Order: sequence, then C-alpha cells, then structure tokens
Amino acid sequence: MGCLSVFYSRPNSYNLKTQNLTPETSKTTVNDNFKASFIPAMSAIAREAGGLLMQYFHQGLKIEYKGDADLVTAADRASEALIRERVSKQFPSHDVLGEEQGLKDRGSEYRWYVDPLDGTTNFAHGFPVFSVSIALEHRSGDEEVRIAGVVYDPTRDELFTAEKGKGAQLNGKPIHVSKAALLKECLLATGFPSHKRHKNPNIFFYHQITLKTHGVRRAGSAALDLCNVACGRFDGFWEFNLNPWDTAAGALLVEEAGGRVSRFDGSPFELNSRETLASNGFVHDALVHEFEEIFAGRGLEPLPDPRVYQR
Ligand code: IPD
Ligand code: CA
Ligand code: CA
Repeated sequence: MGCLSVFYSRPNSYNLKTQNLTPETSKTTVNDNFKASFIPAMSAIAREAGGLLMQYFHQGLKIEYKGDADLVTAADRASEALIRERVSKQFPSHDVLGEEQGLKDRGSEYRWYVDPLDGTTNFAHGFPVFSVSIALEHRSGDEEVRIAGVVYDPTRDELFTAEKGKGAQLNGKPIHVSKAALLKECLLATGFPSHKRHKNPNIFFYHQITLKTHGVRRAGSAALDLCNVACGRFDGFWEFNLNPWDTAAGALLVEEAGGRVSRFDGSPFELNSRETLASNGFVHDALVHEFEEIFAGRGLEPLPDPRVYQR
C-alpha cells in the first residue's frame, strides 16, 4: 500500500467568522467574567431538546437527504428551532451557529455552537445512540474561549457538562479520563462522514489502529464519543472533517476531564481544524506517532485474503 498523503491532502481550515459588529447590550444578568454559570441554562435547554427528540424517535420519521447518504429529519430541525428559541429568549444578544440553520453573525462576543441531533443516521434507523450538543464560546479581542459545553444523551438520560477551568461532570458527578498508558490496552472510537465518503481515508486508520488496540468502536455520535473519552469508557477518539458543532462541547469535556485534544500531528486543536484527535493524554503521543506512520505509509498491514481466513 502506498503513502496515504498521495490522496489525502490536509484540508484548509475554513473561517466561520464574518465582520465584527458592535456587540448588542445584553439584557440578561449574565456576569461577563463568567462568575455566573451558564451550565444550568444550557443543561435545561439540552434536556428539553433531548425530550423532544425522544418524542420523534418513538413515532418514527420520514428521512430526507442532504446528500447521497447524508440524512436529515424533522427532528433535527425541530430540535434546533427549540434550542434557538430558548437561547434567544434568555440571551437575546448572543449569536448561534447551528448545523441546520447556520450562523447569522451579529458580532456578539458570545457564540453558541449547536448540534441539535448528533447521530442522525442512528436516529433515522431506530438505533438509540444520539445526542444534543451545545457549547458556548466567548470572544474577547482576538481570543476565543469555549467557556461551557453540554452533551445530553436522552436515551440513557446522561447529561455531560463542563466549564472552562472547573472540570467535567456526568449527571452532576465529576468525571475523569482513563488511566490506560499503553495503546495495546486501549478501547478507541472513531467515525466516518456521510458526505464525500469516497474521499475519506479513515478506513486505513481504522484498520491499522484496530490491530494495535483492544478495538475501535464506531458508534455514530461524535459528541458522545468525546464524552465517552471524558468519562473513561474510551481511551481515545479520532475523526476526519468534523464540524465545529460536532466537537465544540465534547472537546471541552475531554480537556476538563484531564484529557488532551489536538490535530493528528499533535498541534493545537481548533474548532475549524477538520482533524480531531482526543485521548486520555497518556496515549496521545503514541497515537500521534501512529498517525504519522500511517500518513507516511509505513508499516501498513495488507488486507488479508478472506479465503485464507476461512481455513
Ligand atoms: C455525525 C456524527 C457521526 C460522525 C459524522 C457526523 P450528524 O453527525 O457525529 O458520528 O461520524 O461525521 O457528521 O450528521 O449525525 O449530526
Ligand atoms: Ca453531528
Ligand atoms: Ca446533527
């Protein structure tokens, strides 16, 4: 097998920012130094959206297509509409970037990142692994800081929350990443996109890393995958080409639970990086090394002949 970099060139970051406008005056009592926590409000919104998803889940839905295998349902849209309505009522000056409706940038120093239904393919097939993901970023000058994130899994009633510098919780109890220090003892997770699938090289990474670990799960909700790293169920996770709404909350959860999030070469993760590598920190360098090797086409195991396996 040849060098993967032949057909995988790193995508350019894309910039979600548009021109800066004068921020509107907040009509809320929110403390700009974040002394007041956004977590209660975010949690209530995520729980409400999750409840709405469950109503749709039980009644079954018509699937629509954004691309050849890229699905969307009425539940995605209804969940985002609910979240936007709640945010605009409580935080009228804040901007919201949501997967279904995009961003109307009014230049607020606060920006919400919303994936109203992460795991749409699972949801549409009745496979109960999906979540609501909401993160809040604050901008001060050129500095953007994700200050809070929540991910709610309504099928298990699990609410993951994190605040910058204050740790991460699952249903209110502190969570921490795992302590696994050797790749060969790790359970990892990854994901595959539903658009431009033929351009995605991840199957090579899946193959190689599966052979060096206890296995790699592909559960279908990147936000939950990151939360499962944060609470130690997974030791690491990676995916190509995720969007900011997929990772904004989950990446903060991993960091606040003591883990590490970077690009595939170990350089700092940003929401528009298009490369997400998260781990418990202990196996991060080993994973970065594996990625380097695979990108360079070194040590790749050839696919075995299925007829040999049958013997
Ligand atoms: C998808 C999920 C999936 C990941 C895909 C995402 P969506 O989000 O997070 O796990 O592998 O890349 O697009 O479309 O269900 O919100
Ligand atoms: Ca998503
Ligand atoms: Ca989604």
